[in-house]
Amino acid sequence: MQEKQSIHGTWASRWIFILAATGSAVGLGNIWKFPYITGENGGGAFVLMYLVCILLVGVPIMIAEVFIGRRARKSPINAITDLANEAKKSTLWSLLGLMGMLAGVMIFSFYSVVAGWVLHYIALMGSGEFVGASSEKAGSIFNGLLADPKTMLLWHTVFAIMTVVVVIGGVNKGLERATRILMPSLFVLLVILLGYSATTEGFAEGFDFMFHFDVSELSWDAVLIALGHSFFTLSLGMGTIMAYGAYMPKKASIGSTVIAIATLDTVVALIAGLAIFPIIFANNMDPGAGPGLMFVSLPVAFGQMPGGQVFGFMFFVLVGVAAWTSAISLLEPTVAYLIEKFKWSRVKASIVLGVIVWAIGISCLLAFNEWSEFKLFGKNMFDLLDYTTANIMLPLGGILTALFAGWVVSKKVSIEEIGISENIHKIWLFTVRFVAPIAVSIVFVLNLK
Ligand code: PHE
Repeated sequence: MQEKQSIHGTWASRWIFILAATGSAVGLGNIWKFPYITGENGGGAFVLMYLVCILLVGVPIMIAEVFIGRRARKSPINAITDLANEAKKSTLWSLLGLMGMLAGVMIFSFYSVVAGWVLHYIALMGSGEFVGASSEKAGSIFNGLLADPKTMLLWHTVFAIMTVVVVIGGVNKGLERATRILMPSLFVLLVILLGYSATTEGFAEGFDFMFHFDVSELSWDAVLIALGHSFFTLSLGMGTIMAYGAYMPKKASIGSTVIAIATLDTVVALIAGLAIFPIIFANNMDPGAGPGLMFVSLPVAFGQMPGGQVFGFMFFVLVGVAAWTSAISLLEPTVAYLIEKFKWSRVKASIVLGVIVWAIGISCLLAFNEWSEFKLFGKNMFDLLDYTTANIMLPLGGILTALFAGWVVSKKVSIEEIGISENIHKIWLFTVRFVAPIAVSIVFVLNLK
């Protein structure tokens, strides 16, 4: 078979692909969202479900996405179309790519608002605002931000521009180099924070909260949230990993690469939880406080620890970077598609898409203040976009991807492309054909009640 190349570029090495995909996976999902939904859903049993979902559903689907992308070397819609044609099956499967692009736009809109909070917190941390602050003070600073649409708009705009600028440059240049230094630094700072929280009196309680598995506490709604989050955190079900896979060098083996990405992503989330919950318990805060959890608990911790102003500042810088590398990957599949389909330049595609997501983002930030009355299905705009994407669109995209990879694409092609032994391939095939689609469907159906 002749070697195809993507018109958008190729990662310099397998290592760079791991870094880029990890940059996409590790983001606000790990540091902001995972702890707060764990808190809202009672802790341990939820964490266990999340780990099961990563292993049984996330990893096999990530393998599927990478190989589909790499086989076709095109944006998701066109990649799926090419593979469907190759298998002489219906190209209607490419609608899956369309749903993914829509999910990307919707996720970016609220993601950029939260990333904007992070940028604002970089400034607050740096100015020493939280030195010695009580949890009440930290709480009122956060609520003050939510009540202030102008400040949120400013930072949301800054973040959206930062993201578009990198997407314009193409992911190859600059970004990879930045990630290479910044992702390990984020990891180190998380470990420092973990070290600090291990010395607080809340550590045992925090640890217990996260790893005390009492399955009787689990509701089907919580299982759906854990499942949805496993897609969200691994950037699956919307084409991001497929698009990045299209730029993956041919030589690299997909199986071990995917395991590395999923492990790194999970470790970061668990450390983030272990850093946050002890502080919550030591300060008598509420673990179920919702989206503000990280923005209230961590500043209090940094405010109390020696050198906290510097560490706190660095920490939020790195969370901002983690969010940034993820946000880029939310736009890339659609930008690649616009370039392929309409022969637009990368600049034009990035700016057009950027303006759209920025505008929708405004409706998310207004959901906390001016438009807080406006609700659909009992949820404001921010919650609605978050809930629909993570709990419906990504899992649905994920099962369809699994079914496509398992049933539509021929066995010969998947064996050839994934590069794993025949026995492991059998397990993988069984998972994408049966386990993942059935598990996700059951969770869906039980939630309809
Ligand atoms: N995985 C990212 C995070 O955890 C979010 C994301 C979802 C990025 C889907 C790309 C695609 O923050």
